Amino acid sequence: MAESNSADLMDKIVSLCKRRGFIFQSSEIYGGINGFWDYGPLGVELRKNIRDCWWNDMVRRRDDVVGLESSIIMHPKVWEASGHVGGFTDPMVDCKVSKQRFRADQIFFSPVIVDGKTVGYVTVLESERIAEELLEKAETFKRKKAIQGKLEPVQPKDFTEAKAEEIPLIPSPATGEPGSLTPPRAFNMMFETYVGALRDESAVAYLRPETAQGMFVDFKAILDTGRVKIPFGIAQVGKSFRNEITPRNFIFRSREFEQMEMEYFIADDDDWAKWHRYWIDWCREWLISVGISAELLSEYDHAKEKLAFYSKGTTDIMFKYPFGVQELWGIAARGDYDLTQHSKASGQPMEYFDDVKKKRFVPHVIEPAVGVDRILLAILCSAYVEDQAPDEKGKMETRTVLKLHPRIAPIKVAVFPLLKNKPELVKKAQEVRDLLRPYMTVFYDEASAIGRRYRRQDEVGTPFGVTIDFDTLGEKGPELADTVTLRERDTMKQERVKISDLLGILLPRVR
Ligand code: GAP
Repeated sequence: MAESNSADLMDKIVSLCKRRGFIFQSSEIYGGINGFWDYGPLGVELRKNIRDCWWNDMVRRRDDVVGLESSIIMHPKVWEASGHVGGFTDPMVDCKVSKQRFRADQIFFSPVIVDGKTVGYVTVLESERIAEELLEKAETFKRKKAIQGKLEPVQPKDFTEAKAEEIPLIPSPATGEPGSLTPPRAFNMMFETYVGALRDESAVAYLRPETAQGMFVDFKAILDTGRVKIPFGIAQVGKSFRNEITPRNFIFRSREFEQMEMEYFIADDDDWAKWHRYWIDWCREWLISVGISAELLSEYDHAKEKLAFYSKGTTDIMFKYPFGVQELWGIAARGDYDLTQHSKASGQPMEYFDDVKKKRFVPHVIEPAVGVDRILLAILCSAYVEDQAPDEKGKMETRTVLKLHPRIAPIKVAVFPLLKNKPELVKKAQEVRDLLRPYMTVFYDEASAIGRRYRRQDEVGTPFGVTIDFDTLGEKGPELADTVTLRERDTMKQERVKISDLLGILLPRVR
């Protein structure tokens, strides 16, 4: 990641994404719609590469994982059985004055205690520096009210822990004044819609909040195709929808996002902890294989007492985003809860018959679940670098470069004729473009000085540049005819290679 690991870095990434056609705010011409994003020409390629890499590694290159694409709208009973209708909620708080909404667990408060007496309360929103910010606010509070005495250490708590008598005294993060926050109430995050012509209770359906339930509901159908034997997994990539109370941090928390989930079914008496560890390690290695820096990754084990009753363990792979260390990929050991719930609710058995052990059982599951958008953001944060490079006249200047792994880069190679007004150069460059295009994404660019063209490609992470110059035409002797300059993005090193060797050099490096 770049040196400036801060809000500043995040602003630079958001601005680059917009300027270079990776990501736009959805419906921007109408003022935008919060929590929804559009992926532009380079963004769609990057997303597709992430998805394809995951699919190839998770499904195609394994014997024990098969794919699925289930529908986004499923029978509403699916979401009753899974517990989403009753319990897929976040605690919501309204500020009655500003009309803003907050997630209660993202508001942090502390009493301001001077000489053992509570003289007021201070509030901050979740950040990397909750305790420090609360202390700064407490000091300001004491100074402004001219209170004498010793300020005691702050005691940060989130708003879900506020006692009823404290709620009217806690300032709203929107206005800074107490008295306007409502007590937290459960807010169901599923988007509702209606199926069919009637718009009554009987027609209510939901946009799926996760892809996982498709794998549980279709478990029997996949088992009956006879291709799979325990242990095996079912994987799916697709859109999910959550009416998040506070979508934020660019594409990190959105209301429409894409998930890549896999349910790995194991025997009821198998060593779940071994498989859990296996999948945590697999996910971590995979993130590194697509170019995420290992130093920015960590693991977080959920506290046993905070897990759902059926859960045996959940570990999140965390990424150090510019706005803090946050969940990237969750790996949960969910026991036999989901299959048992659907079996009870549908009346259909969800058992597996082990014909060696002659035993019938409901499989247990390990679930690695990740968002494509969160990976994409982690990749951008990991790849963004500002370094120094010489300009056309040899003067050093700041270069912005996305050091994307070639597997993931939206454009693999850029092809440039040295000059656009020399038809022989243009013709040759177009021949090179057409030679490479069937095998990789190629961007052809003849506008502006060559140095500027290199910089434009560095900024969007294109790992290779090929320049066709007068040597290519044989003007400096036949030994250089039909050779080109191949430039590597990160080192900026240039080498002279034969056009006939280009494909053989590039293909193994971009796949
Ligand atoms: N089936 C389990 C499940 O959905 P989750 O932790 O709620 O678990 C899994 O979601 C992953 O999906 C997260 O680790 C994250 O990468 C991604 N994700 C969840 N909510 C998201 C949101 N609002 N915006 C973007 N990605 C999200």
